Amino acid sequence: MRRKLAAGNWKMNGLAADLAELDAMKPAAATRQTDVLICTPATLISRAAEAVSGSAIAIGGQDCHVNASGAHTGDISAAMLADSGAGYVITGHSERRVDHGETDAVIAAKSEAGYANDLIAVICIGESLEEREGGQTLDVVGTQLKNSTPDAATGANTVIAYEPVWAIGTGKVPTLEQIAEVHDFIRAKLVERFGEDGNAFRVLYGGSVKPSNAQDIFAVSNVDGALVGGASLKASDFNAIIEALD
Ligand code: G3P
Repeated sequence: MRRKLAAGNWKMNGLAADLAELDAMKPAAATRQTDVLICTPATLISRAAEAVSGSAIAIGGQDCHVNASGAHTGDISAAMLADSGAGYVITGHSERRVDHGETDAVIAAKSEAGYANDLIAVICIGESLEEREGGQTLDVVGTQLKNSTPDAATGANTVIAYEPVWAIGTGKVPTLEQIAEVHDFIRAKLVERFGEDGNAFRVLYGGSVKPSNAQDIFAVSNVDGALVGGASLKASDFNAIIEALD
């Protein structure tokens, strides 16, 4: 039985004052049968980890370097994330694929760097609007899944997040049938590659998840939770999403 996961990605949002939102998420996180994760900007990880200490909320990073240390100005290693109190790291978010030209191979290497530091990798995959309209969704998602997911991935150290690029921050959401088609496809590919353990990977949906649509999306087959951007910034919204998962 897979535990559900409500994951928030704060992206480049969040100052010290926003840590109060984490406090306000604690009661919802505590009373549910759902794992709760907030990936803060790197500048907040230490303070966020302290703020949630003793609660059911986990903290994650949004990216890491493939190397353990070295001359990479401005970058952050997986060891640094773990040392700061992170338990997870997002890899391969489409904003990094686009803004930083990250390839599937780099994303796989970043995920492995995460494993080496006991971080759970949340590996993101998803098609662009052009690819969706061109009927290439399953091809694109299948290729990204295959090449971004290391052979060392397991249901325990990896979460897959399906985030159609055109649904991120746009308010546009795929139909429930479209979500089911992709999630069932991802599950089949995971089982094909990892055998029975393929059933243990959590597969999250991401892209304009809000309190108003969460319940319907969470009822879709093979949706094990959500990776939430905008609606994870405020406890009032995110708590409702945690509750919808329960
Ligand atoms: O990683 C989460 C994300 O890309 C979805 O963002 O704002 O559409 O929920 P949003």
